[in-house]
This record gives sequence, C-alpha cells and structure tokens, in this order.
Amino acid sequence: MGWLPGWGNKIAGQPFKPTQRSSWREKHVIDSSKTVTLINTLKNFIKKHVAHSAILEKDVVEAYDTWAENYDTQPGNLMLDLDKRVFLELLDEIVIKNKNVADIGCGTGRHWGNILKNDPASLTGFDVSAGMLGKLKNKYPFAQTQLIRDNLFSAIPDASFDVILSTLTVAHIKDIEAALSSWCRICKEKADIVITDFHPDALAFGGKRTFPHGKVQISVENYVHTVRVIKLLLLKNGFRAINEVTKSVDETVKDYYRQQSALHVYEKFKGFPIIYGVHFRRA
Ligand SMILES: C[S@@+](CC[C@H](N)C(=O)[O-])C[C@H]1O[C@@H](n2cnc3c(N)ncnc32)[C@H](O)[C@@H]1O
Repeated sequence: MGWLPGWGNKIAGQPFKPTQRSSWREKHVIDSSKTVTLINTLKNFIKKHVAHSAILEKDVVEAYDTWAENYDTQPGNLMLDLDKRVFLELLDEIVIKNKNVADIGCGTGRHWGNILKNDPASLTGFDVSAGMLGKLKNKYPFAQTQLIRDNLFSAIPDASFDVILSTLTVAHIKDIEAALSSWCRICKEKADIVITDFHPDALAFGGKRTFPHGKVQISVENYVHTVRVIKLLLLKNGFRAINEVTKSVDETVKDYYRQQSALHVYEKFKGFPIIYGVHFRRA
C-alpha cells in the first residue's frame, strides 16, 4: 500500500475543515500563507516525481478485486506494518476469548492469525470484494465470511457481536453515519469496536491508497472522515473512545523511506500523522 502525496480525495459531506490540531498542522497548516507554499511545493513534487506514472482511481470493489492477487505479498509496506502495530496494541486490551467477533472490511484476513490465537467463539469476516474474500478463504477454508453490497447488514440480527474489528477500511465508506449506526445495531449491549485507518489528515492532504498494477498505479476511492466525527457518531450510539493511538512519520519509519530512495518525502512529511486507531467500548 503506497502513500503518495497525491490529490483529489473526495471529502464526504461538508468541505474538509480541520477539526483536530496536530503538531504537524500547527506548524504547517494554520498559517494560510505557509499552506499555499506547502501546497505548491507538493504540487511541484508530484509533477516531478509522481505524475510521470499514471494513477488511475478505481472504485473500491474493482480496486480490491484487482489488488487481492498480491495484497498479501507486500513486504516492507509501511502502512500495513504500522497498522499491525496499532491493531495489536488495541487488540491486546480486548477480551476475545469465547466472544462473537466481526471483522468488517476483513480483506484477506491479514489479522486473522492474531485474532484466532485468542480463541473467539466465532469470527465472521465481511467485505465488499469477492477477490479479497477468496484469498481469505484460501488461507482459512472454514472461515465464515459474507460478501456485502451495502453497509446496512440487513441479514444480521440486532446484538449479534461482542466485538467489531475494522482495519484500514472506514475511509472507503462514503455514508459513514449509516454504516456506523448499523455496526452499533449489530453489536451487543456491552461491546468493543476497534477501528484503524489512514489518518484523515493524511487523506485530506492528498494521501492515497495506491498499488502498482502493470504500468499504472491504481488508487482506491477514499473519503475523509475526521476521527472527531467517527467518535461523535459512535458516541450517539453509546460508544466511548477508551484508547487512541496515532502513528506519524518519524525516526521509527525512516528506513522505509530510505529503502525506497524517498528520504526527500520523509523530510517533507516528518511529523505528519499517517495512521490512527481507536478502541471504543459501550458499557
Ligand atoms: C486496505 S483493505 C484492509 C483489509 C484488512 N482489514 C487489512 O487490514 O489488511 C480494505 C478492505 O475494506 C474492504 N471494504 C471497502 N469498503 C467496504 C465496506 N463498505 N464494507 C466492508 N468492506 C469494505 C475492501 O474490499 C478491502 O478488502
């Protein structure tokens, strides 16, 4: 999964207004003259370094059906590695043993080894991409999975799950309010939800989920939902954030950029938040 300083992510609902201050934003975004300079620098960077390779934006289903082929073979992928760190930290706080767990946007089941180790009563994977689910089934032939076409989970009774896990998925969902409200409906009274994803600041600033396909880079449709909005929507359904983790471009990830001869990108985005995870609980 690439992280390109590209442009053109759709912003769901109102035009994006920064709702959370990060140290990166305080340094670079609040001052509008600095913002313009930074945007121009980035545009020049894109023209010089990125624009030569075509980037095609695809809708989620088509993109992931294509990406499924090599999704599990991306060694040294910064976003997947950071996500794993965030996910494991949050998973550690949750009782999985004997619980009914849903993984929404499960993809190829990248986290399933770690979830299954904790002995859930059941684990059900939901995804919109048949290609990704097919890869999951190859690895876990007895897995319970459902190919979904909307975010309503109409076939799932209320209060079915103790835990919902969802990694690197929510920014693909346009109507996040309807989706999260359905997630809460299928959760039991006392339930945990763990969400991780690309940081909305990174997406708002043009970060894209990309992968190479033949001679082109494919980028997947994304929407910017701030962490604050996600928290408010879940709070409406009784869920409070009890832990939040953010990973930024810093020394700990410098080697990823070095290995891709992209230290100039590292320097430019140092301090920028790129992945977040939140653990919610309804008590
Ligand atoms: C970046 S992949 C993440 C897969 C897996 N969770 C992981 O961490 O490796 C995003 C996944 O979300 C799925 N997806 C996108 N929109 C979705 C939606 N509305 N409901 C369920 N799955 C969705 C995609 O098909 C894809 O498999």
